[in-house]
Amino acid sequence: MDAGEAVKVWDLPTRIFHWAILLLVVTSWRTAEMRAMDWHYISGVSALGLIVFRLVWGFVGGSTARFSDFLRSPAIVLRYIRRGQGAQASPGHNPAGGYSVVAMLVALIGQIGTGLFAADIDGLDSGPLSYLVTFDQARLAASLHGLFFNGLLILIALHLLAIIWYRIRHGRKLVGPMVTGRDAQLAASTASVTSHGPVRLIVAIMFAALLAWWIGQGLRLPNG
Ligand code: HEM
Ligand code: HEM
Repeated sequence: MDAGEAVKVWDLPTRIFHWAILLLVVTSWRTAEMRAMDWHYISGVSALGLIVFRLVWGFVGGSTARFSDFLRSPAIVLRYIRRGQGAQASPGHNPAGGYSVVAMLVALIGQIGTGLFAADIDGLDSGPLSYLVTFDQARLAASLHGLFFNGLLILIALHLLAIIWYRIRHGRKLVGPMVTGRDAQLAASTASVTSHGPVRLIVAIMFAALLAWWIGQGLRLPNG
């Protein structure tokens, strides 16, 4: 690698996933507030597709996107936190950050999953899978949907605080790399993210899109 060339830390699909999920969370929030429920479902089911994609990408994607790359044992996380190694930079999520990613993904899955089964009080606005449960269960899903959203907002606030903390405390600029994929603050000797050809990307996108579309149809086929 040439001196001064920034190390590649995030592959393009992971970056697109990140900024698209941000957009869809905001859109889902706004459309729910405005009771524009048709748009809320489109936005929510698109978020479902993105999450399915990210889960698949966690197994077959670029090295720093893989769960095996950033899910370390609790002992390693504790050691990391105790020694305060926040400034020690390497590509990908640090041991503590890895679990915050998981928390965010779980919250998003809970948000979307409860939305699929939710129904509003008069049963008019309902998720595509609500017909599979009783009305009371669909109302419970709607309450949980509201609760998950509060949890998600807290996690997002912590996410932003952590990014500001790394900037102030350790001088780490994390946002730029999530945009460009490259991190100029890492030593040129650091290993770059390793990615693979387009085949697994295409298969992952097709799988995620089809599954989200099918769930959005209420698990029914067009003529079924
Ligand atoms: C990123 C994903 C999502 C976010 C951030 C989100 C957010 C919200 C919020 C803030 C509300 C209002 C809650 C309240 O009034 O207490 C809501 C309501 C609702 N959402 Fe979502 N939602 C998401 C995904 C989905 C999905 C995938 C579906 C189903 C396709 C869905 C179906 C519903 C329904 C049916 C309601 C009305 C519930 C009621 O009025 O009691 N949402 N959503
Ligand atoms: C709805 C709001 C947001 C959600 C749900 C969200 C979610 C996530 C997730 C799931 C990751 C892990 C990436 C992966 O491995 O797939 C991540 C990482 C990241 N996010 Fe966000 N994010 C949000 C808003 C933001 C905003 C507004 C910024 C910046 C201003 C931001 C900056 C970053 C950065 C820099 C990372 C990489 C952190 C690192 O270096 O370990 N995020 N975010």
